[in-house]
Amino acid sequence: MAEPMVCVDDFERFAFQVLPRNAFDYYRSGANDQSTLKDNVAAFKRWKLAPRVLRDVSCLDLSTTILGHQISFPVCVAATAMQCMAHPHGEVATAQAAQAMGTAFTLSTFATSTLEGIAEDAPQVLRFFQLFIYKNRDITRQLVRRAERAGFSAVCLTVDVPCFGKRLADDRNKFKLPPHLKLANFEGIDFKSSGVGSAKEGSGLDEYGASLDPSLTWKDIDFLKSITNLPIILKGILTAEDALLAVDAGVAAIIVSNHGARQLDTVPATIDVLPEIVAAVKDRCEVYMDGGVRLGTDVFKALALGAKAVFIGRPALYGLTYNGAKGVESVLRLLQREFASAMALSGCASVSDIQPCMLRHQTTFPA
Ligand code: FNR
Repeated sequence: MAEPMVCVDDFERFAFQVLPRNAFDYYRSGANDQSTLKDNVAAFKRWKLAPRVLRDVSCLDLSTTILGHQISFPVCVAATAMQCMAHPHGEVATAQAAQAMGTAFTLSTFATSTLEGIAEDAPQVLRFFQLFIYKNRDITRQLVRRAERAGFSAVCLTVDVPCFGKRLADDRNKFKLPPHLKLANFEGIDFKSSGVGSAKEGSGLDEYGASLDPSLTWKDIDFLKSITNLPIILKGILTAEDALLAVDAGVAAIIVSNHGARQLDTVPATIDVLPEIVAAVKDRCEVYMDGGVRLGTDVFKALALGAKAVFIGRPALYGLTYNGAKGVESVLRLLQREFASAMALSGCASVSDIQPCMLRHQTTFPA
């Protein structure tokens, strides 16, 4: 009989065993030496919990809101590209799992399922569309229009990809999307004028990035605001300085993210920069984080440091590999249970009870 899956790492081990190398390496890799990749996970362990006792945790409420929408617990699904490599139902299955668990799902611009397919097959899911801005602004306009029509509740603009980070495994594998799959949201879009396919070196990934616009500045947030009334979430903020610019630009939320350590290696773990960003923002927009969340205690720590919610990338992909929508649901449920346990054992009956004083950084303890 198959081993029971009792933690997120079990799902990763399973994915390692069953996925073709090309796909597993693409999902798992970070940039360059992958030092930030390791640190995203390790940094959580350097924050120590300071639990309170005798505080009546007989009735737990894990729910919260993001952008005014109720979610059943503060773990949402991040945008990850090309999910049909993990399971034939790809992003649709992931969205269905988020729907079943009452949380939010983000669809990547580089999805292998369509915006409209998500609306049709997971109609109730709270959904955000992750956007890249193309040199050809018409492509961006068309994608945003489709997201609006398909009932997406926010645009999540990724701001840490003026170009792709270097992922050694993808270069070695000469990564390409398998021929039976395609980036589903570019049907009918004329890429010739915008240069897709013009990159000749590196992994096949560069082809998909060749038409992203590296000249973007903060002024382009105004462009985005001019084409949509949807709330804007900026994904990929790592400094207090940029968080303040994001507030000035009038965005609804930011995601403290290093793109799952896939862009610039040796940047800090996201959990370590979260406190300074939360302090700078001072509640002027919502702050979420992603990167390295693998345990319920990680979720608890992120909330204690001021995040309103966390997003998971790879854990959802590994759940999808395990068993489609049911597998993603299992990963989310596991994190939900672990988070509930962390709350109870720390003396918190609701997410608003989770406070900064319930954490100590390891450096504050004598060696
Ligand atoms: C990503 N991420 C990402 N981000 C984004 O804005 N657009 C995208 O298309 C993708 N694609 C993507 C693919 C894969 C395979 C991974 C692992 C990640 C980044 C993602 O949204 C998120 O920031 C990280 O995955 C969070 O880190 P963890 O949870 O994977 O550690």
